[in-house]
Amino acid sequence: MSDSSFPNSVSSPSKRPQGTVRYDNSGRVVLVTGGSNGIGLAICRYFASSGASVLCADIVEYPDLNEERVHFLRTDVSLESDCQHAVATAIEKFGAMDVLVNNAAIQPPSSYVRVEDLKADDYQRMLAINFSGYTFMAKYALKVMRAQRSGVVINISSGQAHRTTRGVPVYGPIKAANILQAMQWGVEYARDGIRVVSVSPGAIDTPLVRASLEAQGGERELANRHPLGRIGKPEEIAAAVLWLSSSEASFITATDLQVDGGLGAFGAFADPYAMPPIDPS
Ligand SMILES: NC(=O)c1ccc[n+]([C@@H]2O[C@H](COP(=O)([O-])OP(=O)(O)OC[C@H]3O[C@@H](n4cnc5c(N)ncnc54)[C@H](O)[C@@H]3O)[C@@H](O)[C@H]2O)c1
Repeated sequence: MSDSSFPNSVSSPSKRPQGTVRYDNSGRVVLVTGGSNGIGLAICRYFASSGASVLCADIVEYPDLNEERVHFLRTDVSLESDCQHAVATAIEKFGAMDVLVNNAAIQPPSSYVRVEDLKADDYQRMLAINFSGYTFMAKYALKVMRAQRSGVVINISSGQAHRTTRGVPVYGPIKAANILQAMQWGVEYARDGIRVVSVSPGAIDTPLVRASLEAQGGERELANRHPLGRIGKPEEIAAAVLWLSSSEASFITATDLQVDGGLGAFGAFADPYAMPPIDPS
């Protein structure tokens, strides 16, 4: 076909069908840590609206008190006894444990320092919640899943697990460990009917990111670093979690999925994108 005969008029991309996916999580029991805000809240809502019974384990109360499919349990994941109690509560209340989403993590603004200036309290809290919390929850959930011979564990990691920047001496290294936890547990339990994967988000619009937005150059700047030109929505992480935990992802285990608007593929040596004009609204 010559260039002149190639059709040059197509309908606008925004008018093209985009395809949809619908999930049925009827009868499934899902435990989400840190489900009262941000990404965890979107995950709770997506599972509940697709029929699952959800246990939200958080230190702050779940905001949708009228949501019948979500049961809130005050849980501090840094305490092994609370993690054990959360898994036991899911079994007592719903009779099984089909999906565990390890999501609760903190990144205090005061932790954005060189390692030499790290406060002992920030270090210990991040280690206890972001690393030990994932381990304790998995310890009790995997025991139940192994008896069921069925289950999925999803660790929410971060783009900061794959590459780093200045001023994050603890958060990033622990997020990298969350990926290796998923790989190790995935390998260990692969013959028990259990899959374990991690998800690495780019910047997502949540209270955690809002707390450090200025330190990251502001919203326009942070959005522009992502090839898609915006920061992500919590629902875009929830959608990936629902897919990975479904039977449509049955051959996926012991690996990581980056959901980051292209951030991870964009080289630091590349020219930055031109900043978009300021939106007058
Ligand atoms: N927002 C982002 O841009 C981004 C990017 C990459 C990775 N992540 C990861 O996604 C996950 C969720 O982040 P987010 O932005 O939604 O955070 P968030 O701060 O908005 O929400 C975290 C939730 O965890 C809860 N929590 C804190 N300490 C807890 C504890 N000890 N026990 C139980 N719950 C506790 C909080 O109460 C809160 O409800 C984290 O693992 C985070 O590292 C976030």
